[in-house]
Amino acid sequence: MSAKGTTAWDVLVLGAGAAGLMAAATASQRGVRVAVLDHAAEPGRKILISGGGRCNFTHLETSWERYQSANPRFARSALARYTPRDFLNLVEKHHIAWHEKEAGQLFCDGSARQIVTMLEKECAKGAVRFYYRHALQKLSHDGHCFQVHTSQGIMKARTVVLATGGLALPKLGATDSALQIARHFDLDVVAPMPALVPLTLEKPFPELAGVSLPVTTSLGKKGVRFTDGMVFTHRGLSGPAILQISSYRSAEQSFWINLRPGHDVWEDMTAVMKARPRAHGAALLEGIPIRLARHLAQTMLDGRPLAEQPGKAVRALAEHVARWVVSPAGTEGYAKAEVMRGGVDTRCLSSQTMEAKTVPGLYIVGEAVDMTGWLGGYNFQWAWASAVAAGKAVAERVKG
Ligand code: FDA
Repeated sequence: MSAKGTTAWDVLVLGAGAAGLMAAATASQRGVRVAVLDHAAEPGRKILISGGGRCNFTHLETSWERYQSANPRFARSALARYTPRDFLNLVEKHHIAWHEKEAGQLFCDGSARQIVTMLEKECAKGAVRFYYRHALQKLSHDGHCFQVHTSQGIMKARTVVLATGGLALPKLGATDSALQIARHFDLDVVAPMPALVPLTLEKPFPELAGVSLPVTTSLGKKGVRFTDGMVFTHRGLSGPAILQISSYRSAEQSFWINLRPGHDVWEDMTAVMKARPRAHGAALLEGIPIRLARHLAQTMLDGRPLAEQPGKAVRALAEHVARWVVSPAGTEGYAKAEVMRGGVDTRCLSSQTMEAKTVPGLYIVGEAVDMTGWLGGYNFQWAWASAVAAGKAVAERVKG
């Protein structure tokens, strides 16, 4: 079906991802005419691959403190008005079986496709029209209505919900459309960066690739700190504790890794030295995977038994284990990032409705907004909550 037409849609949602589908369902069920366009051939492609194919669709401990943004408090209102329990009620209404994996992280028992199907069914209730293979090229306003320029022609709309997401995973269709449109309408943009992303090291440890262990990563004066898994990669470091800290690092900022969280490393080493003075270096590093322990002992100690090691070298090793200062060369970029951080500056939007303060009728939701959640379902919860806020508000606006 052609996108061309003379009648303006009440609401045109740009992007059939998590936030776009939720905004379309919410608005359309309030009696307004809603269409959704996407350049992909199907909706919700990131949902489909999320959570290892099982979609970690929310986190029960969602609160604004678990978001990185120039102003995380902006998320407070939307998150309070559409909670993880609200989304779970929807999931249960659609008879989708779910389970809690780590504390608070909710996944489908079956497939992430169930979440996409659920959202499509919710859209069908409101008779939402879908226009796939329609690439958004430009958005303008002629003083009367929005003109949405697409690869298939111009569509008109009284109001627009911009839900084209962020830059992460371009091979899955991510674009900078939201940022371009924001700039076109003179809305500020917080510089985008890959987030929840593996980090690269100038001198990586390819010989340790695959070694994983629990660590604490920490950063800066604000005391951002994550205790979770880390894994050595051929080019650097990955695993949840690294992905989480990546969202908070500014370029070139160092951070610390404690390779023995919850332990007094110096005390543990002293005990080993007393108990096993004839043992060799790696024995000092109890609890650390043997490949890593051997590597650390070889680089920081000489080959003599523990009793003969200089105290200074042992202290330096303890310090390194408890507080390894890491200065990443960079990140694996948007190709490997789970999300984009930065985006449309929240100061330009209403926290109640997601409407752009200076562009009446333009609503911006989901990852396009400068609001980046922790790993574990927080990003979807922001997508749902911001979309519900916008969906309700845009319907009210249209109905006047
Ligand atoms: P989203 O990216 O979902 O949708 C944007 C839509 O706009 C897409 O359909 C795209 O095709 C379309 N679009 C873009 N540009 C366009 C253009 N120019 N014209 C037309 N259409 C255009 N989060 C979480 O909470 N739990 C999880 O388990 C995971 N897992 C996960 C795994 C992987 C591999 C990734 C990459 C990401 C996750 N995430 C996640 C993050 C989560 O997927 C993300 O935060 C949400 O999908 C964001 O929803 P949006 O609707 O804002 O963007």
